[in-house]
This record gives sequence, structure tokens and C-alpha cells, in this order.
Amino acid sequence: MPQIFPRKANSLPAVSLMGALGGGIVVVLVIWYYFSPRFTDVGYQPAQPVPYSHAQHAGQFAIDCRYCHNHVETSEHANIPSTQTCMNCHSQVRTESLKLLPVRESWATGTPIPWVNVHFLPDYVQFSHAAHVNVGVGCESCHGRVDQMEVVSLEEPLSMSWCLDCHRNPEEHLRDPAAVVQMGFNEEVRADGESFAAYVDANRARVEAEGIQPPQNCSACHY
Ligand code: HEC
Ligand code: HEC
Ligand code: HEC
Ligand code: HEC
Ligand code: HEC
Repeated sequence: MPQIFPRKANSLPAVSLMGALGGGIVVVLVIWYYFSPRFTDVGYQPAQPVPYSHAQHAGQFAIDCRYCHNHVETSEHANIPSTQTCMNCHSQVRTESLKLLPVRESWATGTPIPWVNVHFLPDYVQFSHAAHVNVGVGCESCHGRVDQMEVVSLEEPLSMSWCLDCHRNPEEHLRDPAAVVQMGFNEEVRADGESFAAYVDANRARVEAEGIQPPQNCSACHY
């Protein structure tokens, strides 16, 4: 058989296929980037490996947030509870439930439950839970009504301007440190202009007396 095309041409289909694929990938990535919700988008609500409900545990049963997130007052990070914490109850309660099968498996094998992280900041931002919680910023101010969530979602943008909005006006957000985990804390006060103004004034006095000064300088939040 005479060769009609030079040997080199054999690679042409492969090359053009790769080109087409490469172009396709770029298009897909661009569309993906612009149209998929980013983890910083309010409303981000990843599916979790166990149908664990805060509305049931923290709402209906009123289990204190700190029973599970027990490092939140002493550490930078609020921990996700270990399987043992769940088994404190679930070794006796609903021991046959299929919804709890992954929890029992995790307990039996010692493999942690692969919970999907909902809130995170870029590495170049410094943030401490303890510093906020101990001075009286409630979980609710940053995470919303977790006690009403079947599945946790991102309620606040966690952007730099969001941090700074509160750092400039902390008196609007502070509460008695004893009430940091309380949900629906001062809803009636907030709904009424006059009472809210009085609340803010009282907090302003506290801010001055205690020298509460949320930082606005770059190096406080950035390494
Ligand atoms: C202080 C006790 C307690 C702790 C701790 C606890 N639970 Fe529960 N959980 C309960 C009770 C009570 C129920 C409801 C049982 C019922 O409806 O009869 C429940 C229900 C559930 C259900 C629904 C089960 C079903 O069949 O409907 C899931 C899923 C669940 N818990 C997951 C967890 C996970 C995951 C943890 C750990 C992060 C955890 N629980 C920690 C007490 C607890
Ligand atoms: C019985 C244990 C338990 C209690 C009580 C509890 N949590 Fe959780 N929390 C979890 C578990 C397990 C997760 C990880 C799975 C998920 O996101 O639902 C979690 C996740 C979260 C997250 C999202 C973390 C992330 O990935 O960014 C927030 C915020 C949170 N909890 C706040 C609270 C607040 C506020 C309260 C009190 C009103 C509370 N939790 C009470 C077990 C608990
Ligand atoms: C001033 C705002 C603020 C307050 C108040 C606050 N959080 Fe958070 N929380 C955040 C931010 C921001 C993140 C993401 C942190 C990161 O990526 O380092 C986060 C993350 C979390 C996580 C995921 C684990 C982690 O540390 O990354 C849990 C769980 C959590 N918070 C629970 C709580 C609970 C419970 C309270 C109240 C006792 C609380 N938070 C109060 C802002 C806040
Ligand atoms: C709802 C109000 C509020 C929000 C939102 C908030 N902060 Fe704060 N922040 C405070 C208050 C109040 C203090 C305490 C100031 C003091 O103790 O003098 C504080 C203190 C700090 C400090 C100094 C204490 C320390 O840890 O060294 C840093 C850093 C900080 N915040 C970072 C952040 C970052 C980053 C964000 C956003 C991701 C944020 N904050 C969001 C109210 C807030
Ligand atoms: C109260 C805390 C806080 C202070 C003070 C602060 N930043 Fe930020 N900054 C953040 C957070 C949180 C982010 C992450 C925002 C995000 O993920 O969208 C950020 C992001 C950035 C970025 C990344 C830009 C972007 O949009 O992704 C730059 C650059 C930056 N900050 C510069 C500064 C400079 C310069 C200052 C001082 C004038 C400063 N920051 C002060 C909290 C702070």
C-alpha cells in the first residue's frame, strides 16, 4: 500500500484531540469557577456523612454548644466533637438506628467521621474563637440560628469587611459573656429602636470601662 500521508501525520489526530480536550477543560473550568458557589458564599451548605441535626440536639434537646464544641472558650479553634461524644448517648439511645450506622462504624473502627467543614478562613488570616467568645460575642452573631438548622449552612460572608464592620461598632454586638451560647438572645430589643439604642449605650459604657478594642490594624489579622 502506498503511503498517502507522511508518517508524521499519524500524530495529528492525537494532537488535535488533545487540543480539543484541553480547550474543553479550560471552558469547563471557567464555567465552574464563575457559576459554582464558593465556600465563602453565604448559603454554602455541604451534605454531611451523618444526618446529624443541630435543630434536634441544640434546639429541641437544648444540649449546650460547649458540650460538643468544648474547646471554643479556650482555643483558637472550635473543635468538632469526636465520635466518643456522640456515643456518650448513642451507646444507649437509638442503638439500632440506620441513621447512626456511620457513627457506630466509626466507633468500632476508630476511623473519625469525615464531617465536611463549612466555615473557613484563608491561611493568611488570624482568628481566635476564645478571644471573641470570652469578651461576649455570641456564637449566633457569627453563625446565625444554629439551633434551628437541620444542616449547618454559612450565614455570614466571613469577609474582611464583615470582620471590620463589627470591629468598628462592637457595642452593637456585645452581650454578657455568660450568654454567648444563647440563641435568639436580644431579638425583641433589636426589633425596637428605642430599647436597642439604650442597649448600645450600655454596651458603649462597658467597652470604655473594660477597654475593649477590636483591632483594625492589618497585622492583628494578617501574619
Ligand atoms: C446528650 C445526648 C446526645 C448526644 C451527645 C448526641 N445525641 Fe444524637 N440523639 C439524642 C437523642 C435523645 C435523639 C433522639 C432519639 C429519639 O428520637 O428517640 C438523637 C437522635 C439522633 C439522630 C437521629 C436518629 C434517628 O434514628 O432518627 C442522629 C442521626 C443523631 N442523633 C446523631 C448524633 C451525632 C452524630 C452525635 C455526635 C456528634 C450525637 N447524635 C450526639 C441524644 C444525643
Ligand atoms: C451533640 C453535639 C453538638 C452540639 C450540642 C452542637 N454541635 Fe455544632 N456541630 C456538631 C457536629 C458533629 C458538627 C459537624 C457536622 C455538621 O456540620 O453538622 C457541628 C458543626 C457546627 C458548625 C459548623 C462547623 C464548620 O464545619 O464550619 C457550627 C458553626 C456549629 N456546629 C455551631 C454550634 C452551635 C452554635 C451550637 C449550640 C447552639 C452547637 N454547634 C451545638 C455537634 C454539635
Ligand atoms: C466573631 C465571630 C465568631 C464567633 C463569635 C464564633 N465563631 Fe465559630 N467560626 C468563626 C469563623 C470565622 C470560623 C472559621 C475559622 C477558621 O477557618 O479558622 C468559625 C468556625 C467554627 C467551627 C468550625 C471549626 C473551626 O474552628 O474552624 C465551629 C465548630 C464553630 N465555629 C463553632 C462556634 C461556636 C460553638 C461558637 C460559640 C461558642 C462560635 N463558633 C463563635 C466565627 C465565629
Ligand atoms: C460580631 C463582632 C465581631 C466580628 C464579626 C469579628 N470580631 Fe474580631 N473581635 C471582636 C471583639 C469584641 C474583639 C475583642 C476586643 C478586645 O478584647 O479588646 C475582637 C478581637 C479580635 C482580635 C484580637 C484578639 C486576638 O485574637 O488577638 C482579632 C485578631 C480579631 N478579632 C479578628 C477577627 C477576624 C479575622 C474576624 C472576621 C473573620 C473577626 N474578628 C470578626 C468582635 C468581632
Ligand atoms: C479584623 C480583621 C482584619 C483586619 C484588621 C484586616 N484584614 Fe485583611 N482580611 C481579613 C479577612 C477575614 C480576609 C479574607 C477575606 C476573604 O476570604 O474573602 C482578608 C483579606 C485580605 C486580603 C486579600 C484580598 C482579597 O480580597 O482576597 C488583603 C490583600 C488584605 N486582607 C489586606 C489587609 C490590609 C492591607 C489591612 C490593613 C489596612 C487588613 N487587611 C486588615 C481580615 C482582616
